[in-house]
Order: sequence, then structure tokens, then C-alpha cells
Amino acid sequence: MSRQFASHQRVLVIDFGSQYIQLIVRKVREQQVYAEIRRPETPLSEIIGERPVGIILSGGPASVYEPGAPTIDPELFNLGIPVLGICYGHQLMASVLGGRVEASEEREYGHTQLEIINPDLLLDGVQNNTVTWMSHGDRVTEAPAGFAVLARTAHSPVAAMADEKRKLFGVQFHPEVAHTACGKQVLHNFLYGACGCVGDWQAANFIEETIQQLRDRIGDRRVLCTLSGGVDSSVVATLLDRAVGEQLTCMFIDHGLLRKGEAESIIKLFSRRLGDRFVAVDASAVFLERLRGVANPEQKRKIIGETFIRTFEAEAAKLGEFAFIAHGTLYPDVIESGGDKAATIKTHHNVGGLPADMQYENLEPLRLLFKDEVRQVARELGLPDEIVRRQPFPGPGLAIRIIGEVTPDRLQIVREADAIFREELAAAGWEQRVSQALVVLPTIQSVGVMGDGRTYQYPVVLRAVVTDDLMTAEWARLPAELLARVSNRIVNEVAGVNRVLYDISTKPPATIEWE
Ligand code: XMP
Repeated sequence: MSRQFASHQRVLVIDFGSQYIQLIVRKVREQQVYAEIRRPETPLSEIIGERPVGIILSGGPASVYEPGAPTIDPELFNLGIPVLGICYGHQLMASVLGGRVEASEEREYGHTQLEIINPDLLLDGVQNNTVTWMSHGDRVTEAPAGFAVLARTAHSPVAAMADEKRKLFGVQFHPEVAHTACGKQVLHNFLYGACGCVGDWQAANFIEETIQQLRDRIGDRRVLCTLSGGVDSSVVATLLDRAVGEQLTCMFIDHGLLRKGEAESIIKLFSRRLGDRFVAVDASAVFLERLRGVANPEQKRKIIGETFIRTFEAEAAKLGEFAFIAHGTLYPDVIESGGDKAATIKTHHNVGGLPADMQYENLEPLRLLFKDEVRQVARELGLPDEIVRRQPFPGPGLAIRIIGEVTPDRLQIVREADAIFREELAAAGWEQRVSQALVVLPTIQSVGVMGDGRTYQYPVVLRAVVTDDLMTAEWARLPAELLARVSNRIVNEVAGVNRVLYDISTKPPATIEWE
């Protein structure tokens, strides 16, 4: 159990297997209230010990009447702690407290109008017939004794309910999903109206507390932190610098697969900030050599990961003894790899990072934060915009945007084309409107014409996506004039390219990267 941020009011979100679990936590934190996920099996004594100001029961795929369906200690409802049940959590609350839950013939899915019967505290300020997002088979047909029915829909006679005396609330719809117009208001009513939240979860507090915690844990020992150029590791390094100063050494391993100008800007920034406590290692020749002749994407990832670790070990050994190594692990990595118990980082994420089981103790000061929170902290720490706003970039870098073999020439093509694409996106005000923009170099070549002669050269593929969670993505509807400018510049300025394509595939079925 994590005791980090114990001084903040906290809401615990019990996860019954909801596909929206991370969204629930993020939406609570966006209202300046700290929230963490717990499993349904968490003993009640532990939950009480954490002194949450509120508890949210998430949705989930099960049916409350199914044998083995996840459940909760009924005593939870007698603690005097406000509880909000969402979807499955709503049904569970109803069924545990003596209401009725039934399978409905039709699944209620998608945008659904909410008819308000009694706004009460939970639906205060919510407009009648507002649109909510539903996704359920079962429904509550009778609220438990003591509950008032607050709203219904065509298929859900009890779409929202409340027992204000006991501070128990349930909603069949998903307030955490953007399609629910009143979602923010409903969560706000629960958090501030029922739980008495004060809004004490802010980036500045995080910084102060984390620095203190790092100092306490590290004492007078030494810490090594690898920098990748991304926002996460930059924030970790900056927090550690403020916490233990001279005891910190940062290492930047340049694998030669970053975008144009990135290695230079990270070296400039951190050598200015850390002086000789910053070590830059140019290992690009080694990486390129090891990648020679390798076309398979998974093999490329493996080679890059292994070369990274070997380089790190060799270089770290030159720097003396360290007790700790710092990682930029984020909350989604922790959740996806099995919650608090998990120390491992998914292989997908540790390329360009390090395994968590080296001979050092691990420091993971961001392990309870989401990416948007890390960006806020970065801003608060005064990191430059180019780092704060840097889009996600894969650990194996441009190597997985070059289909087939990575050669210096092909690397040059992708790097130059990518720089033009990003420059034009920024100039047109589109850089922050897309979640990720990239350029892919395929293996095929095609015929073109230039001047009087025919060419036989590569196409490049532009890809720009909009996504909340990187799990699903829409292709960005970039203006045709912008695409025309990018295309024109690339074929004129990047040697070896005679065609530019725009990828209009969603994820799924396509992925964001091509490899
Ligand atoms: P896909 O291509 O799976 O990408 O839709 C989802 C997100 O993950 C990033 N990505 C990676 N990140 N190592 C990483 O650190 C990798 O091997 C890797 N592969 C994909 C991708 O850029 C996107 O943000």
C-alpha cells in the first residue's frame, strides 16, 4: 500500500475491471483531489487505515448475480465515508443493500438521455434530458430502502440514486467519459458536496512533498538518473537535483535515433543546469553498427534495449558507486503491470529505459502520476516548453519508423522529413492539436519525374493522430494546404524522396507506429 501523499485528502477508486479505470482517477484528480486505485479484495481495515474522504466503485464487465462476480465488504457502506457507485458499482451497491438488479433484454449503449426526477445533491446543476454515456446489460430496477431515485432513462428506471443521509450515491451512466455532458458536474457534486473535498492536489504541493520524500529516502547516498530527452526523465532529474543536488549524476545516452536537434538540446539544457554532474555518451556508432542488416522490428527493439543496458552498465561503472537508480515510471505503467505490487516495467516501455531489477535500489518519484500531471509539474519546475510539450516518442526512436534496415542514409531521410513535418505543424498552430506526429520510411521505391529525368526513390508516409490514451487513435484532419506545404518541402529538400503520403488509418486496426 502506498503511503505517498498521505497528507492529501484521498479518494480510493475500487477497480472492478473497468475499461475506464484510469479515466475515473484522472477525472477526479483534474478536480484537484488525489485519487488512487485499489482492488476489490483490499481488506476493509486497509481501506479505513488510508482514511479516504470518498470511495468510488468503478464499472466492470461482470454481472452482480454471476457466481464469482467481484464484490465488496458490505460494511464499506456503514463507515460514514461517502461512496459513489458507477455502472457495475451502482448495481453492486443496489444489490448489496437490498435493491433489485436485473438483466435487461436490450443492452443500453452509447448516448442516452437522462430524465431527472430529483436533482438532489448529486445531480445539482445538471440539466434535464442531458446526454450521458451508457454501456451496460444489467440494470437497477429497484433502489434499496432509504434511497431516492434521482433519474431514469428509457431503459434504466434507476439511472441515478442517492441516500443522502448515509452519503451513498449510484449512477448507471459513466460520468468519467467525455460524452457525458454533466460528468464533471456530477463528480464535482460528489467530491465537493458529499466528500467535503478542499482541492489540495496541486502540482506545487507534489513538488515540495516529493523533494522532501526523496531527501528522506536517499540520505547521503548517490543517485544515478538516465535522461532520454522526454518530459518524464527530465522531471525526475530536476526533482532529484533539487532534492539532493551534488549526490545526483545524470547520464544521457545518445543512441543516434532521436529526432533532429533533440540530442543537442538535451545536452545544452542539462549541462547548463548540472555542470559536471551531467554525462553525455555518444553511442550512436555502436547502435548503428549493431542494427546493421536487421529488418525485423522486434529484433530491432531487442538490440536497442540490450545495447542501451550494456552501454549504461559500462558507462555507470566509470562513475563510481551509486545506491539508487531513478526511473521515470508513470501510474499507467504501474496499473497496467498489475498495480502496486508490480515492480516490473512492461518491455514495451523499458526500451531506452532500464530493467527495474539491477543491483541498485529503484527510485520512481512519478509512479503515481499521469502524463498530464507530469507536464504540469514540468511547467511548475520551469522546464522549457520544448520538453514540457514534447509528444510521446518511442524508446527505440526513429529505428521503428524506418521499415527494414536502419542505415545512415535512411536515418537521414526520416530525420529531415520529420523535422519539416514538425516545423510546418508548429507554424500552422497544429503541433499541440495532434497527440503524436511522425514520418515513416517504407522499403518500397517508386517512379517519379524531376526536371528532365525519371527518378526511382522512396516515398515517406506522414502520420498524425489524436488520442487520449494511445490505446485508440483517430487520424488528424490536417488541412489540405498544410499537407501540401509539407509535401512540397519534403520532396524539394530531402534527397531521395519523390512522393509523400498521408496515413488515414485509425487505431485499431492500425497502430500509431508502423512497426
Ligand atoms: P502503437 O504503435 O502501439 O503505439 O499504437 C502506442 C504508443 O506507444 C509508443 N511506442 C513505443 N514506446 N517503446 C516505447 O517506449 C516502443 O517500443 C514503442 N512502440 C510504440 C508509440 O510511439 C505510441 O505513443
